[in-house]
Formats: sequence, structure tokens, C-alpha cells
Amino acid sequence: MTYAPKTEKPQPTAPTETQTIKIGIIGLGYVGLPLARLLATKHPVVGFDINRHRVDDLQNGIDTTREVDQTTLKATILQHNPLVPLPALVTDVSQNGGPTLKTGLFCSPDIMDIQSCNHYIITVPTPIDKNNRPDLRPLYAASETVGRVLKKGDTVIYESTVYPGATEEECVPVLERVSGLKFNADFFVGYSPERINPGDKKHTVDKILKITSGSTPEAAQRIDRLYAEVITAGTYMAPSIKVAEAAKVIENSQRDINIAFVNELAKIFNLLEIDTQEVLKAAGTKWNFLPFTPGLVGGHCIGVDPYYLAQKAQQHGYHPEIILAGRRMNDSMGEYVASQVVKCMIKKGIAIGGAEVLMLGITFKENCPDVRNTKIVDVIHALQDYGIKVTTFDPWATPEEVKREYNIETSNTIPQNTFDAIVLGVAHNEFLS
Ligand SMILES: NC(=O)c1ccc[n+]([C@@H]2O[C@H](COP(=O)([O-])OP(=O)(O)OC[C@H]3O[C@@H](n4cnc5c(N)ncnc54)[C@H](O)[C@@H]3O)[C@@H](O)[C@H]2O)c1
Repeated sequence: MTYAPKTEKPQPTAPTETQTIKIGIIGLGYVGLPLARLLATKHPVVGFDINRHRVDDLQNGIDTTREVDQTTLKATILQHNPLVPLPALVTDVSQNGGPTLKTGLFCSPDIMDIQSCNHYIITVPTPIDKNNRPDLRPLYAASETVGRVLKKGDTVIYESTVYPGATEEECVPVLERVSGLKFNADFFVGYSPERINPGDKKHTVDKILKITSGSTPEAAQRIDRLYAEVITAGTYMAPSIKVAEAAKVIENSQRDINIAFVNELAKIFNLLEIDTQEVLKAAGTKWNFLPFTPGLVGGHCIGVDPYYLAQKAQQHGYHPEIILAGRRMNDSMGEYVASQVVKCMIKKGIAIGGAEVLMLGITFKENCPDVRNTKIVDVIHALQDYGIKVTTFDPWATPEEVKREYNIETSNTIPQNTFDAIVLGVAHNEFLS
């Protein structure tokens, strides 16, 4: 979808220290919603999402990602756009002690609701396509949306994970084309990567040190101050947008490679009939041994971000060896786990063809409802290839979503029949206890 540049737009003055900060968050998912909620404690925030269903849920205080609890969300949500004051509501403080009219979060699927914001923060997905190439379409679309409402003096901050250079080389041209405004003269840009860990209630967005950056020294300072207001863990101002982009993408690539290494160790120790967990426990007694554990690497961060870095490297004529070797190793683990299950069953004299296996968990990680890019599906498919019938139970996953995404039946209640084998696929607290 391409929008024509707008001809008429309000032209407020350039940002000043005293200007009221009015924030628009584009994309209200795992990253956008907790950030919007946090910023809404200090500023009026309008969250924009193209998914009307998600917007309706949020306005009703329901977060299906379970990142923001209902009480907190309901206390933050405003039923009216705080940027469009209602003449009848003159008081600053709502009667029920909830958020004031000046702060709080209003969610909307309507672009008109974000037109008077002066800070836009983009938190849309950055997936890969079926050939593992970065798919920047959501980022282009969100940039077009912001371009339509961009005004002189506005700031646009990207939080989505990208490769170094994507903000200035890919997104800024879209903002300029759609808005008709000039970068670093009329509007400014920043990049501040998100580091949250879905399902982790300890390291919430406010408690994770935030990298910030801006397209000019002044913009960088302004953006850093904005985050410093709400991030109790503090901020780190990177010297450039590219440095901030690169820092984020290598954080997850480093985890991917480290997990690939312990996955390789698991394969070796299995052959040697040594317990990998015991080896890691013993090695972990050294102060500088890193505590990684073998497993499936799914989701849309650790298993995806290395491809962003790899693509950029390839564009510049360098073929990354370690990064892609790590990806290959981790992507092979589903099949490997299935083969190990089958081996165990054979050793116990269980006939494989027609055997019944219970899979505990299908989400991409523990204590989180997200099933996108889950590698449990690889295990299930590999087991099915052996002629095994797999039943899946996951108290966190939404059965309709699993059916839609993978055409796999799953249940939120534990099946009562008996099984030949049970695979503890995802370490949800319910299973561990
Ligand atoms: N989930 C994580 O743990 C995590 C952590 C750090 C960084 N990130 C990065 O943050 C970004 C967002 O990830 P996420 O997990 O929040 O994604 P998500 O899929 O949970 O949420 C994205 C939201 O954006 C909306 N959206 C998509 N296109 C849009 C558009 N053009 N305009 C408005 N809304 C749009 C979707 O409807 C969805 O609600 C990605 O780049 C991801 O790599 C994610």
C-alpha cells in the first residue's frame, strides 16, 4: 500500500524543552504494549495497531500476550483519545483515581488518532521469509503510516530488530517520500532496540537498561531523556543509530551461537553416553564458563535476528560462517530430538508404527503463549514421519491459533488416555511442578 504525500498538515514548531510530549506507538504486540503502558505513566500515549481485534481487546483491558496484567492495563487504558480533549471533561484527575487525562494509553486502529503526536515509536514485527531473508514489509508499512501524519519537529524512533543501516537506508526514505519532509531538517529519527524476554516477569521493560540513539546529537539527547524518564535501569546512548542497530542484532546472534555450541556438545555426549546436563553443571563451576543449555531455538528473535545480520554481511561480500553454522545446528534440533525419542522407545521394546506419544507444550518457549516459529512443530512432524500418533497438550497455547498456523490439534486440558511415551517439550512451570 502506498500513500500519496499529504498536502495539508499542521506545522507545529520544532521540539523544545517545554513542549508536551505526545507519543504514538505503532504496533501493540509483545514489545509495543508494555512500552506503551510504561510511557503512559508519564505522557499521553496513543497506541496504533492494524489488528482491530487486538485494539478492542486492549481497550477492554485484555492482553492475550499476557505481558501486561489486567489490573495494570485497565488502570492505564483511557476510553477517550487524550490528545483530543473533550470540552466536558475539564478535570485532570479521573473520578476513580485512574490515570489523569494528560497521561494514559488509548488504543486505536485509526490513523487519525495519532495525527497530533510528536513522537512516534515503531514496534512492528521484522520476520524472515521462507528463504530466511529479512521481510521488511511491516516496517515499510508502519513508516508509511507515520509518514502520513509526520509534521515538522517530530521524532520517529524505531524499536524493531533490524540489521545495521536499516533505519536510515530503508525507513527514512519512506518517511521522506510519504511526508514530503526533509530528514534531519524537518524531522528526526532514533533507534532504541527492545531487549525484553517474553514471559519473564523479573526483567520487565523498565528494568532492562535501554540503548538509545538519534540521527543528530540533539535528537539523541532528547530520545535518551525520553526513555530515561521511565527506564529505572537506566539508558546507554550509543554514538550512532547503526551502532545501536548492530548491538541489538549481535545480542541475539551471540545467544544463538552459544546455544548451537551446547547443542553440538549434547550430540557428542549422547554418543559418548555421558549426561550433558551433568557435564555443563561441572564445567559451570568455573567462573567464566557461560551457562547455556541445549534445546530448541524457536520464536521470532534468537532464531531470526542472525539472518538479518547474515544478509547485511552478504550484501557487502562477506559470507558469515559461524553465524550460519549456528543457525543450521539449531534448526536441526527438532529432528534430532524426535530421533532420540524413537531410539529410547525402541530400546524399551515399544513398536514405533502406530505408537501414541504425548507432547507436553507447543509454544516456542516456557511460560509464554507465543507459538510463532515454535520448533516443537519440527519434533511433532518428525515423530509423525516415523508413523507415531502425537497428541499435544499445552495450557498456554491458544488451540485455534495452533490449528490456524500449523494445522495441529492441541488442548488446554491434559488428555486422560494412556501413552507409549511422553515428551517434555516446553518447560512450562505447570509441567515442572
Ligand atoms: N517479542 C520479543 O520478545 C522481542 C524482544 C525484543 C525485540 N523484539 C522485536 O520487536 C519487534 C516487534 O516484535 P513483537 O514481538 O512485539 O511483535 P508482535 O507480532 O507481538 O507485535 C507486532 C504488532 O504490530 C502490529 N502491526 C503489524 N504491522 C503493523 C503496521 N503496519 N502498523 C501498525 N501495527 C502493525 C501487529 O498487528 C502486532 O500487534 C520485532 O522487530 C522483534 O524482533 C521482540
